[in-house]
Amino acid sequence: MKRNTLELDLKSFRIHIRRIDVTRHLLRNFKMSRCLSIKYVTHFLLFLLGMTLLATLYQPMVVKKDEYKQSSLSIFLDNLKDQEWYRINCFDGKLYYTIEKMPLNLDLWSQAFERKCQILWSKFQKIYSVDVREGKLEFPMQFESKLQRWFYNLDPSLKEIRTQTVIHVRNKYTKEHTIYNPLRAKRPLQSSDRDPLGYVNKLSSSTRESCDFCNYETMTSKDFFDRIEGKYSVTAANAFKLDKWHGLIITREHNPANITEDVLLDMFNTTLMWFKLVNIIDKSSKFPNILWDSLPHAGASQLHPHVHVILDPMQYYGILDEQLSAASEYYEKTGNNYWEDIIEIHHALGLAKIFGNSVAMTPLTSRKDNEVILLSNSPSVDFFRLLYFVIRTYYEQFRIYCFSSGMALPVIDGSVANNLPAFIRIATRGDCSGAYNVNVDLYWVISNLTKIVYKLSADTTFQSKTLVPWISQ
Ligand SMILES: *[C@@H]1O[C@H](CO)[C@@H](O)[C@H](O)[C@H]1NC(C)=O
Ligand SMILES: *[C@@H]1O[C@H](CO)[C@@H](O)[C@H](O)[C@H]1NC(C)=O
Ligand SMILES: *[C@@H]1O[C@H](CO)[C@@H](O)[C@H](O)[C@H]1NC(C)=O
Ligand SMILES: [Zn+2]
Repeated sequence: MKRNTLELDLKSFRIHIRRIDVTRHLLRNFKMSRCLSIKYVTHFLLFLLGMTLLATLYQPMVVKKDEYKQSSLSIFLDNLKDQEWYRINCFDGKLYYTIEKMPLNLDLWSQAFERKCQILWSKFQKIYSVDVREGKLEFPMQFESKLQRWFYNLDPSLKEIRTQTVIHVRNKYTKEHTIYNPLRAKRPLQSSDRDPLGYVNKLSSSTRESCDFCNYETMTSKDFFDRIEGKYSVTAANAFKLDKWHGLIITREHNPANITEDVLLDMFNTTLMWFKLVNIIDKSSKFPNILWDSLPHAGASQLHPHVHVILDPMQYYGILDEQLSAASEYYEKTGNNYWEDIIEIHHALGLAKIFGNSVAMTPLTSRKDNEVILLSNSPSVDFFRLLYFVIRTYYEQFRIYCFSSGMALPVIDGSVANNLPAFIRIATRGDCSGAYNVNVDLYWVISNLTKIVYKLSADTTFQSKTLVPWISQ
């Protein structure tokens, strides 16, 4: 990075010298051309033109230097083609929308003719390694007949089961490692006659009376600056702090299944206000971390929706910090923007959904089921609406009401060069009452999300809404 800046400096320096030369030349010419023949006038005009050209060349280079410093952070979605373009040009029109066929998709991609696809393919290889392994099995008679009954409709010959394909995907920068065995997703699960919404509603009414968060005024602590009150949410201080500044944003709604788009936007608007206020009081705290788990882990905490907000003086927490290190390392090694590259890779593979200035993608190296990563340059209405759409996808399409999420926002005062964009990682935690449904196909998640985005984004009342502005400069 240093070398590049230096090169730019040298270039602009050279251009500067040339500009001075040109000016001198011009003056000399002017003196000589007292007679002012047509020829000299033409020369004069040509030199003017040349100077203008030089000036325009000179200008963007200076601007570019500033952009350069920012580019490890900013995400530009404008350079993306639509998914159809990638399907046709990078995958010969044959992209398979299932994780099972990833090896075939990658094979097609590696043979693409289109330059943009080739560049993206080399980026893919820089970031990811994909390894396909085959394992063979033999079954005793009795187990074989059981398997035949299980997979009766799918693969009665058990060919696919005898020789199983396992796909290992590794992200070389974050060191995440995910294993896909497509067969696992096809295992017959006992048909779920459970009613998850009924479960949540029942739990909700049985906890409402004694809920501390419904009675936040008397039953929760507060920061010394008192509470921030939003329309549908309010702040409290966490009674058992994880950090110097550890607050809670509590909705006024008790039932997590009843969170509306308005409530969610208000909750995060209050979140932004809390961060900003704390940063005004304590300048040294500036790394915003957010944790939001829905539905209590084994009854340990509150059902009532609440978001943990933590403003750390040193860094982002845990896996969020890992993401930042990966992005910085990638930038140092390749000079490329990690976020833009993983977005384009996922988008090309059909694993991303763009909504306004934000993007959701089902990461190739998911850690949990139904995992989605959301990215944007700053916390915006689009960004949190997209989060709402993900949650509604869990609720409506998958009938799952428990999820965990971690979020980061850009450093408040922009005082740190290495910075995360607005970042959310969210995934489900089983169905909260037992069986864990492993290995959900990433393509199911993104297609179901796309459906929900289409359905819910039709509500235009949100287009005029804004959030508290986030200072990221
Ligand atoms: C909460 O949602 C349930 C079903 O999702 C509905 O029956 C109920 O009326 C809602 N309650 C409120 C207060 O909106
Ligand atoms: C949604 O996900 C389910 C699996 O849970 C899948 O069978 C279905 O095809 C997906 N729906 C859409 C619209 O893609
Ligand atoms: C967020 O708060 C600001 C400041 O109070 C307000 O102007 C804005 O309308 C709020 N946005 C939403 C979506 O509530
Ligand atoms: Zn409550």
